[in-house]
Amino acid sequence: MFDFLTLDDVDVKEKTVFLRVDINSPLDPASKRILDDSRIKATEATLKDLKEAKTVIGAHQSRPGKYDFTNLEAHTRVIQMYHNGKVKFVEDIDGQKAQNAIKALKPGEVLVLNNLRMHKDENLDAPPEKLAETGLVKTLAPFFDLCVNDAFAAAHRGSASLTAFGEVMPMVAGKLMEKELSALNKVIYNPPRPTVYLLGGAKVDDRLPVINRVLKDKIADHILIGGLIRDSFHMASGAMPDRFAMLKEEDKKLVNEAGAILKKYKKNIELPIDVALDTKGGRIEVLTSQITDETNIYDIGLNTVAKFSKFIREAGTVVAEGPLGMFERRGFDVGTKELLRVMSEANGYTVVGGGHMGGLASMLGIDDKMKHVSTGGGAMLSLLAGEELPVIEAMAKAKKKWGKTP
Ligand code: 3PG
Repeated sequence: MFDFLTLDDVDVKEKTVFLRVDINSPLDPASKRILDDSRIKATEATLKDLKEAKTVIGAHQSRPGKYDFTNLEAHTRVIQMYHNGKVKFVEDIDGQKAQNAIKALKPGEVLVLNNLRMHKDENLDAPPEKLAETGLVKTLAPFFDLCVNDAFAAAHRGSASLTAFGEVMPMVAGKLMEKELSALNKVIYNPPRPTVYLLGGAKVDDRLPVINRVLKDKIADHILIGGLIRDSFHMASGAMPDRFAMLKEEDKKLVNEAGAILKKYKKNIELPIDVALDTKGGRIEVLTSQITDETNIYDIGLNTVAKFSKFIREAGTVVAEGPLGMFERRGFDVGTKELLRVMSEANGYTVVGGGHMGGLASMLGIDDKMKHVSTGGGAMLSLLAGEELPVIEAMAKAKKKWGKTP
């Protein structure tokens, strides 16, 4: 079980609180509009609990170099929409502008700092005690009495704002963190069998170790694969040797990793039997064995939808993370949406994770038919795979260090 303090253990009245949330959201590539605001909406329960505190929100959006690496102005407007109180954005993180804005806060007010990953210290990977020595933590910490960590979706990351404030002040879990961990506990301890994992998305390097681990430890009985992970497994099975030769070294490594998994756990892994290609703007389905070029595959095919649906219907537990295809593209959302619908009607304990899948479930109006919709993608999978999550470790360490203060 988890061992950390929560908001119920502390008095936040008139305290200045650093609230770390994960509001990293899918953005439209052209307009940069927020496509799904579920993670932002999920901050509401904690903000309500902090209504007598002066709250400074720290969060990230994407990573440097990516198209969706933006400031948090639009996110702030959405927080304001859901929150019954004054919410301001400051285009600064730890500079004079941010410091003045923090000092000017009154109880009940909320200040959102800029995208923390715009600060070099937030992009360092080091143990919390080292990160506590960074300029970011040293500059901001004197302004805060307490850190509330509600960034469940980033709990598998160990950056300064996520783990290091607990070294220098009390750190407790927020409401969302508590809710997520208690719902996911049911899947961690004795999940109803068989357990089926439906995995897609683009973060192949993150997902392969998780697949390996849940199979090695017999946490998952069947893994159904779509999204970009499918490419690695497909090539690993010996398909398209010419295309493999053209891959970048890091992608070759992923294919080899997928190959090693396939070799050990072939009977637990279900790959698509057909896929949908985008040919001159239209959806055309072909058998996986007929694929000659992986770059124009945008969805799983309907035979695969039928095959995967059977596993989902017969499962005791279903965990889904990451879209099966490029659902943003017209006509290529079929596989992902159809399998979400099947999940919503299934009898097992159904958990949907990750920004995209949660957003789609709510768009389809079936989110309340799932047993749990998690704001976490990688964090949820790492937790279910039995990994130690840096944020949870940091909160446990903070409890030992600080007890119930302030
Ligand atoms: C997520 O969306 O999974 C979290 O916000 C972490 O983002 P990252 O994968 O860019 O670290």
